[in-house]
Amino acid sequence: MKVTTVDHPLVQHKLALIRDKNTGSKDFRELMAEVSMLMAYEATRDLELEETVVETPVAPARVKVLAGKKLALVAILRAGLVMVDGILRLIPAARVGHIGLYRDPETLEPTQYYAKLPLDIAERRIFLTDPMLATGGSAVRALDVLKEKGATHIKLMSIIAAPEGIERVMKAHPDVDICVAAVDERLNEKGYIVPGLGDAGDRIYGTK
Ligand code: PRP
Ligand code: URA
Repeated sequence: MKVTTVDHPLVQHKLALIRDKNTGSKDFRELMAEVSMLMAYEATRDLELEETVVETPVAPARVKVLAGKKLALVAILRAGLVMVDGILRLIPAARVGHIGLYRDPETLEPTQYYAKLPLDIAERRIFLTDPMLATGGSAVRALDVLKEKGATHIKLMSIIAAPEGIERVMKAHPDVDICVAAVDERLNEKGYIVPGLGDAGDRIYGTK
């Protein structure tokens, strides 16, 4: 397993705005989507290419185009949806799946309420999105669901991770790489990432 932190200045600047409690839902959503798109640029760096030839108006040109497995984005609902919106701007042809999970506020364990995945998910290279990797319970459950459907090539994309979440995913799914914009200090007693950004779903959708 590899953990990549995207430390690009634009990502870090936008992340600072996202963390700010004075940033409202509209800007929060847009910034989350922008950061996700920029993270996807890094997360897709190892996609396979193959050579082909196109005719420019001047002459034939040997070019490289994407090859290998087709792609799928899978959002953990609700908050992962906004990441998919951003990443689709870069990879518009990707198929999209959804896994619905919510954390019990007492036990912090996830409950699954929905799953809809592309039929050929097992043949696709998957980017699983959830902006917050806190205890890691939701990510581990979503990875279980994907693997039960035969998925083998999965990268988890989270904007902010706690060390506890990374460790839990590493233990349960050592084959899965993780791409983050920041690894924060710790979890608090309510399972929130410190300093984090608060409740991602509530800030995206203006709920609570
Ligand atoms: C939040 C967040 C992650 C999860 C992370 O979702 O979006 O999915 O918590 O926590 P974990 O790593 O401890 O599992 P939440 O359960 O609040 O649901 P929501 O997105 O529908 O608000
Ligand atoms: N889910 C969130 O939305 N934020 C946290 O800090 C932890 C879990």
